[in-house]
Amino acid sequence: MNSMSLTGPALLRGTFIPPGDKSISHRALMIGALSEGQSAYENFLEAEDCLHTIRAFQDLGISIDYVKGSGKVSIQGKGLRGLQAPRHELDLGNSGTTMRLLLGILAGQRFEATLTGDESLSSRPMRRVTQPLKQMGAQIKGRDNGNFAPLTIRGGRLRGIDFENQLASAQVKSAILFAGLYAEGKTQVCEPIPSRDHTERFLQAAGAPFRKEGNWLVVEATNYLKPFQAVIPGDISAAAFFIVGAAMIPGSELVVERVGLNPTRTGVLEVLKRMGAGLEIKITQEEPEPLGFIRIQGRPLKGTRIVKEEIPSLIDELPILMTAMALAEGESFITGAEELRVKETDRIHSMVTNLNAAGGKLQELPDGCLIQGVERLNPAKIRSFGDHRTAMSLAMAALAMKGELVIEDTDCVATSFPSFFSELERLKQKRDLP
Ligand code: S3P
Repeated sequence: MNSMSLTGPALLRGTFIPPGDKSISHRALMIGALSEGQSAYENFLEAEDCLHTIRAFQDLGISIDYVKGSGKVSIQGKGLRGLQAPRHELDLGNSGTTMRLLLGILAGQRFEATLTGDESLSSRPMRRVTQPLKQMGAQIKGRDNGNFAPLTIRGGRLRGIDFENQLASAQVKSAILFAGLYAEGKTQVCEPIPSRDHTERFLQAAGAPFRKEGNWLVVEATNYLKPFQAVIPGDISAAAFFIVGAAMIPGSELVVERVGLNPTRTGVLEVLKRMGAGLEIKITQEEPEPLGFIRIQGRPLKGTRIVKEEIPSLIDELPILMTAMALAEGESFITGAEELRVKETDRIHSMVTNLNAAGGKLQELPDGCLIQGVERLNPAKIRSFGDHRTAMSLAMAALAMKGELVIEDTDCVATSFPSFFSELERLKQKRDLP
């Protein structure tokens, strides 16, 4: 198990181009595999989660060319009914997005497949997806009546459902929409608060019979999806570590280029603005996915509240925002974020425990936390809990320390951002702290 030692105090200066968006990279592969003909993408995220999606589709008989280090991937799509039964179990590692979205696709196939994952993925709830897919006609078996991997799915003759999602989850929504491409009649999904809409954008661009009717997202069965050529935007969820890190450290000056600015993903920027951050944001492209640059000037931040309605637009950025809040002036407050407890680890617990170990003043709530800002954090030895976003959020806390932060178990950053520590080294400069 590798650990990382980081020394503060430091600030961030320079230009940063984030790796390809993880959510979009997964969907790009999936839609590419189901379309007819060759799709080609640039700036594909070469991180463990997305590599698991590549391997899974190769095991399902799809030819995918990928030259390591190039960000270029080309997929020979075989159409909606061209997947083949895998010869062995599909190991999806740590990737919840792969497992949930793939279940939606496999629900439409006439063969059996078994999906497995690592310890973390095997303890994450899947009923949210398997229950509606069973209702549509798929047969799914797994521990606790199909709630935990390993899951064995046999697709079948699906029928459309009206699914009122109780969770604002893009993974659940996407799984049902994918299954809807195979279902008799119309499949419609609505959600309590809008979540990221990358699947909807892809379906539209691929020419699927997809439309919005009021709050409902409606899809019907089809025989054809058209292939794509696209450049995947930079991942705002990866960029967020550097955006927030720079924003909270006075003297930092950072420009983030070619970053995705889809409004269903930019809650982190709204929160930073409320905290008084120095941000200049410019959108340079709107379609198929908004994209642009952000210029950040570091300054002391003040506390704020994040409530339920905002959570889906910043769910993955809450850990790094907790770091900023731990250092902001006054009190901060996060509620309505109980979903954080069922991510790659319980991120409320991992962040509160670690920041408190470094002298923070945080208190866990069942669905969030209360934070009293402190002026600086203290050197400490902490652990990632095997969670990539916990590790990277804590690494940014070292910028505000006088001394050394040791983070145990840092290999997990490869899940979404393998070059994170080298980018941090490149952008980091020493500063003085009295
Ligand atoms: C994702 C949706 C979110 C997010 C995850 C990626 C996606 O999960 O936390 O990292 O790509 O659809 P939920 O759908 O569980 O909220």
